[in-house]
Formats: sequence, structure tokens, C-alpha cells
Amino acid sequence: MPTQLRQPGIFIAGTDTNVGKTVVTAALGLALQQTGARVGIMKPIETGSAPDKMNSDVHRLRTVFASCKTVDVQNVYRFPRPVAPLEAARTAQQRIDVDAILDACRTFAVHHDYVLVEGAGGILVPLTETHDVCDLIRLLGLPCLIIARTCLGSVNHTRLTLRGLRDAGIPVFGILLNHVDTTPQEQQASTVKLIRELSDAPVLGPLPFQPHMDSQWEDGINALANHSTISEVAKMMQERNL
Ligand SMILES: Nc1ncnc2c1ncn2[C@@H]1O[C@H](COP(=O)(O)OP(=O)(O)O)[C@@H](O)[C@H]1O
Ligand SMILES: [Mg+2]
Repeated sequence: MPTQLRQPGIFIAGTDTNVGKTVVTAALGLALQQTGARVGIMKPIETGSAPDKMNSDVHRLRTVFASCKTVDVQNVYRFPRPVAPLEAARTAQQRIDVDAILDACRTFAVHHDYVLVEGAGGILVPLTETHDVCDLIRLLGLPCLIIARTCLGSVNHTRLTLRGLRDAGIPVFGILLNHVDTTPQEQQASTVKLIRELSDAPVLGPLPFQPHMDSQWEDGINALANHSTISEVAKMMQERNL
């Protein structure tokens, strides 16, 4: 059986953890759903997620789509320790089975018009002794949207991520810049300028900083879903039938 997904979709990867992958996944899911599409959101591996953790990615995603019948959120592995998946699985005396994730994504995708798969951390984060997030993206056969911060250090992180994906032969859908914090304006501007200048992939955004994102999660996601950056990604996906 071929491993790659037949359904349109993208893999939402980050230059790091805490760059806005979940925020973008939720906002993009909402934007696609508003076009009448059935959207499947897959967060295959989450760490640092105890069952009572209200701020877990899966919980936050499900909150956004709680009353929406055309969007499903699914998870395969969840570990309580807030460390890299390989180590979190070891602590739980489990082993992440990449084939099980591929099977789950394939089955899930059949029921949706679009699939959004959110990664875990950055692309070289280990899942097993032999596979990392980058291997998972390649095996899924999805183009990759890189979420990158606009703060100092992001030029390096973004270029490393782009190089890693290119070396693995993974198509890069684009780089989405996200103002996750109130970095000084001068640093934001120069980061955005350099990433635009030096990247051989479409650069989208920046997505604006939403001051009350965590306390008003659903409102924040709703606002971003209607922002031109997210609309542009949704439009690109529709046009390319991705
Ligand atoms: N545009 C934004 N405006 C305000 N806060 C943001 C924005 N993007 C992300 N955040 C916040 O930054 C933190 C990390 O975002 P998250 O989407 O969870 O990152 P990741 O999934 O990459 O780990 C969260 O607290 C989230 O609410
Ligand atoms: Mg996340």
C-alpha cells in the first residue's frame, strides 16, 4: 500500500516549539471550514500533555471546533512528559510506531477534503531512534508550511529548516511568519526583510500579534482566521488543490 496521502493537505512544521503551529493550524482549519470544506486536523504526537492539561494542543484545537461538525481533530500519541517525543515515549515505556501514524493519517484523510497535520517541535526532533519529524513529513508526502517567528534568531532557524526540508526532497509550500511576541520593532523588521530576501519559497505574513490570545483563545483564532495571511494560505491550497 502506498504510504502517501491521496487527499489534499499540508504539514504544518515549525522552526521550533512555541512558534505558533497550533495557532496557525486552528486559524487555517477555520478559514478552510468557512469555505464549506470538511477539514481533518491531525496532531499525531503531543508531549507535555497530561489529561487535565487545558492548554494542550489537542484540547485547544478541539475547543475551537467543538460546535463544528465539519472539522475533526485527531491525535495518535500523547505523553505527559514535556520533552522530545523519543524521550517522552521512552519514559512512558512505549515506542512511537511511525507506520501506525501513517495508517491513522491515511484513514483520517479519506473522510475530509483537506488534512492539516501539525508537527511536534522542529523538523529534526526525534520520534524514534531512526525517524524524526522530517522523515514523517516525507513519508506522508505532504508539502510543508514552515511557521517561523519574527524575533532575533529566526533568520537562522528558518534557513536551517528550509535547508533540512530541501535536503530531504520535501516540497515547501511556504514560510509563514508569525509575530508571537512583542519583539522590538527593529528586530522584527530586519528578520522579516532578511527571510523574504533569502528564501527560495513563498514568504507569507507576518501574522499579527494578538495580545490576549491565551485568555481569549477562540476570539484570537477567529480574528486570525479572517486575517489576509491565513486567507492567502487557504486560497493557495484551494488553487493548487493541496
Ligand atoms: N499571533 C499570535 N499572537 C499572540 N500569541 C500567539 C500568536 N501565535 C502564537 N501565540 C502564542 O504563542 C504560544 C505558542 O503558540 P503555539 O501555537 O502553541 O505554538 P507551537 O504549536 O508552535 O508550539 C501560545 O501561547 C500562543 O497562544
Ligand atoms: Mg503546537
